[in-house]
Amino acid sequence: MKTTVFGKLPDGREVHQYTLENRSGAVAQVIDYGATVTSLKVPDRNGRMDDVVLGYDSLQGYMEGTAYFGAIVGRYGNRIGKGRFSLDGKDYQLTINDGENHLHGGKIGFNKVLWEAKPGGADEASLLLQYTSRDGEEGYPGTVTLKVTYTLTDNNELRIDYDGTTDKATVLNPTQHSYFNLSGSFENTILDHLLMIDADGITPVDKGLIPTGQIADVADSPMDFRRPMAIGAHIDDRNEQLAFGKGYDHNWVLKGSAGKVAELYEADSGRMMTVFTDQPGLQFYSGNFLDGSAIGKNGVSYKHRSGLCLETQAFPDTPNKPQFPQVTLRPGQTYRQTTIYQFSTK
Ligand code: GLA
Repeated sequence: MKTTVFGKLPDGREVHQYTLENRSGAVAQVIDYGATVTSLKVPDRNGRMDDVVLGYDSLQGYMEGTAYFGAIVGRYGNRIGKGRFSLDGKDYQLTINDGENHLHGGKIGFNKVLWEAKPGGADEASLLLQYTSRDGEEGYPGTVTLKVTYTLTDNNELRIDYDGTTDKATVLNPTQHSYFNLSGSFENTILDHLLMIDADGITPVDKGLIPTGQIADVADSPMDFRRPMAIGAHIDDRNEQLAFGKGYDHNWVLKGSAGKVAELYEADSGRMMTVFTDQPGLQFYSGNFLDGSAIGKNGVSYKHRSGLCLETQAFPDTPNKPQFPQVTLRPGQTYRQTTIYQFSTK
């Protein structure tokens, strides 16, 4: 595996970039800062390789950026209302970093720390990254060790395996925050991409994007992606949920049988991305906060809705919503997640 120095942190530690290449010529690059996927090159229907994930050219971009491009987010991907929860009768206050709420692990989440990388092993196109988060970090109880393994399979799948443990009861709900644009050019928006999500419900949110606790049927609403639909078809409809999210920024309630949960297709390139996961929820975020101010790879400014995220995880705010599937992790238990982004053409 090719390893290069990507940059240096202010404290002098080096950040490395690892290049994973499979037998079909697809290439994924990952840095140990934030366990971040910095590029992912997959073929279009004519075999042309293009990068399909947004990111920066330099470490500084990732250090200063606020969009979570390509990173593993945690401990808790998505929001916890007012950053508060109680567990086993104890109250915890997490860092508030999104209005009055806690988002994506806090000020210095898993996306803003250096992970320990263990490249290679038996499979050349596989990289294990590990981070140990200390007891009390961003307000969370327990020392948590999270291992994330990225594998680029010969079938053009980016496979992500998670394994987490703790020494005290805590909550753990990490996810991968890549922004996809399958068109081959980040100058294009994702509004023409066709999306299918195999889900009958979403968890509606309040204006701070905290779930109300209900599950709403997607039928007869702009949230109905049960059949492939252009993302732009209804994104600007008059709809309270879309207004709160400034577009799509919601959790779809998956059916719970680990397998295919979503499909994303871009007709000009013929690229198709199929998402498989064992998680209960899928946050579909349509890049509504991108506003052209982030200058990405090759100097391209990432305009409104030029990338989208399909974040596999538990529902937002589960510690305060006992009716949702929980993510409590106790000593002796192991958190596991497997998610696959599979690329093909048609
Ligand atoms: C998630 C959230 C969004 C936003 C992005 C990062 O998808 O749900 O509201 O915070 O991350 O910009």
